[in-house]
Amino acid sequence: MATPDLFASPGPSPAERMAQLRTQLHRHAHLYYVLDEPSIPDAEYDRLFQELQALEAAHPELASPDSPTARVGGKALDQFASVRHAVPMLSIRTETDTEASGAQNFDTRVRKELGLGEGDPPVEYVAELKFDGLALNLRYEQGVLVQAATRGDGETGEDVTQNIRTIRQIPLRLPEDAPRVLEVRGEVYMRRDDFESLNERQREKIARGVKGEKTFVNPRNAAAGAVRQLDPAIAAQRPLSFFAYGVGEVTPAEAGGPDFDTHFQLLLTLKSWGFPVAAQTQTAQGASELIAFHEQMGRGRDQLPYDIDGVVYKVNSLALQKKLGFVTREPRWAVAHKYPAQEQMTTVQAIDVQVGRTGKLTPVAKLAPVFVGGVTVTNATLHNEDEARRKDVRIGDTVIVRRAGDVIPEVVSVLLDKRTQDAPQFTMPRTCPVCGSAAVREEGEADYRCTGGLFCGAQRKEAILHFAHRRAVEVEGLGDKLVEQLVDAGVVRTLPDLYKLGLTALAGLERMADKSAQNLLQALEKSKSTTLPRFLFGLGIRHVGEATAKELARHFGKLDAVMDASEAQLLEVSDVGPIVAQSIRTFFDQPHNREVVEQLRACGVNWPEGEPAARAPQPLSGKTFVITGTLPTLSRDEAKDRVEAAGGKVAGSVSKKTDYVVAGTEAGRKLTRAQELGVAVIDEAALLAMLTAPAA
Ligand code: IVH
Repeated sequence: MATPDLFASPGPSPAERMAQLRTQLHRHAHLYYVLDEPSIPDAEYDRLFQELQALEAAHPELASPDSPTARVGGKALDQFASVRHAVPMLSIRTETDTEASGAQNFDTRVRKELGLGEGDPPVEYVAELKFDGLALNLRYEQGVLVQAATRGDGETGEDVTQNIRTIRQIPLRLPEDAPRVLEVRGEVYMRRDDFESLNERQREKIARGVKGEKTFVNPRNAAAGAVRQLDPAIAAQRPLSFFAYGVGEVTPAEAGGPDFDTHFQLLLTLKSWGFPVAAQTQTAQGASELIAFHEQMGRGRDQLPYDIDGVVYKVNSLALQKKLGFVTREPRWAVAHKYPAQEQMTTVQAIDVQVGRTGKLTPVAKLAPVFVGGVTVTNATLHNEDEARRKDVRIGDTVIVRRAGDVIPEVVSVLLDKRTQDAPQFTMPRTCPVCGSAAVREEGEADYRCTGGLFCGAQRKEAILHFAHRRAVEVEGLGDKLVEQLVDAGVVRTLPDLYKLGLTALAGLERMADKSAQNLLQALEKSKSTTLPRFLFGLGIRHVGEATAKELARHFGKLDAVMDASEAQLLEVSDVGPIVAQSIRTFFDQPHNREVVEQLRACGVNWPEGEPAARAPQPLSGKTFVITGTLPTLSRDEAKDRVEAAGGKVAGSVSKKTDYVVAGTEAGRKLTRAQELGVAVIDEAALLAMLTAPAA
């Protein structure tokens, strides 16, 4: 018989268990948020977290401000309390010279102040990133975060503790070996991806009509807004991050505090206490290594997940820092070395629409020239119609332009309070600005496209390359280099020009040997005998790939039949849906495209034509339908297309000749009339069944 083990130790008391859980959760949060190295699954973390929450709810007297559960809480404030900094928060001198000489100048000044001569060894520095956020002072007493304050004027800042507690990278409690008083200084910032998703959420709110919401101009701006948000619940939804780069008041060594020799050692210790310190931070010997750091970080700047606006150099030895001291409010031992700004303000002089090689229309803001991201920018993309509208960029507007790395410059936002003119909202042209063909935007797509593929100057090279492709009409040896050369030299403008080429025109081209010219002419001659599917595919009609081209050729037999087919007739081709049908129709509706086709035929491009494929018996042949009301899935037009594609007719009013009335919800007079005349009334489901049923 099993006897209860009387000597088993009782489980931990609630207070003990809560302490255990808090320690574990602090450790896991640090692994997850600071080191990016979680050691337990999220679900396990959640379980521990919930256990602690439950214990705290059951024992409110044991609640603690440093509990991992205590990150969000508190009421909205009317204003922030002022905080007088125990040690002033200084700013640093900025080296505006963005070239290497910025680092050289700093080193020269430091050496001079320290009385070092040419023969003396290089000064050791710490090189850090200059994060583009807000300076923050975190005060810990007895290892517990008691206050977080903004820099303010350097003497007095604002108490933003409630909001800062929500930043998971900031420890609420420090390990045992941390000093009794510790102020950690660093930068609170927002990652670019967090910024993007925050703005996305803001846009959704604005679209839903939520009052008082706005989008943010850049991550710095969004971070500042979040830190100074009076309602901590809102602040908690704004994802902030933090990097430590220094200290304020610290228990002195004489009173048992830490004794650091160097700034680097101090940073490593902060890291060991759980603070995020940027991995790029490193020591550097003399000006040359500072310059190398500046260059290296400048190159990698755009790959970082957050914005930096420069790097910071600090003399590593704390003794030398002391010796160097301060000028007014700036230490002589540190300097910020900037990079060219990635955002600038300028004005919009015009909005042009550019046509890409594949016919895509892109609105582009023409700007008053501005130096941004290291180059002079005069154009910035507005991406597409929706983006241009969303940002509401208008001619005459003052805008913020951003250029990061090799990315094309873009308009970030409009400064609405600077709008003076009453310029109209931007609208996309309905015709191609290059060739005048219709510009269309298909359902579900963001871009407008020019439909004059064969004729449009912007699409010339692409059209020729596609036509000459091995799987299209195949002109052997006509690749992108040669097309580039022929078009740029002006000898080929449209496809038929290819077949008008002679030896003399070709001989005039650079790097074109007699032999290559002969070969090209032979290849062109050979390409004239082709097939209808290849020719149709070669025209480069949007959505018409090889398979569709084959189906079209099989179905219609002759090119003219394809060119003249109505959308309804095109829909009869297997594989052709409404978007493809419309695209084919629009293509052949452009007179210029038809002209190019005619000229190609006149030049001798030919193929065997066939008879249209025997029509499969049409399920709705000879039947007349009237469609009324709202159908559950099909629009009225779609239903009409489907009926016609199946051989049926669609009429506008009900008569004795009507075979079926297809009625949806809110069907009115037509339905009553059908009932009066005894015409069969069916719903959408019945219609769909008839469409697929074999012909009677
Ligand atoms: S050190 C006495 N280090 O740049 C030195 N500042 O004026 C105090 N900043 O407002 C600053 N990254 O918010 C330091 N690695 C870094 C920094 C940094 C960004 C900000 C800081 C301060 C401004 C310099």
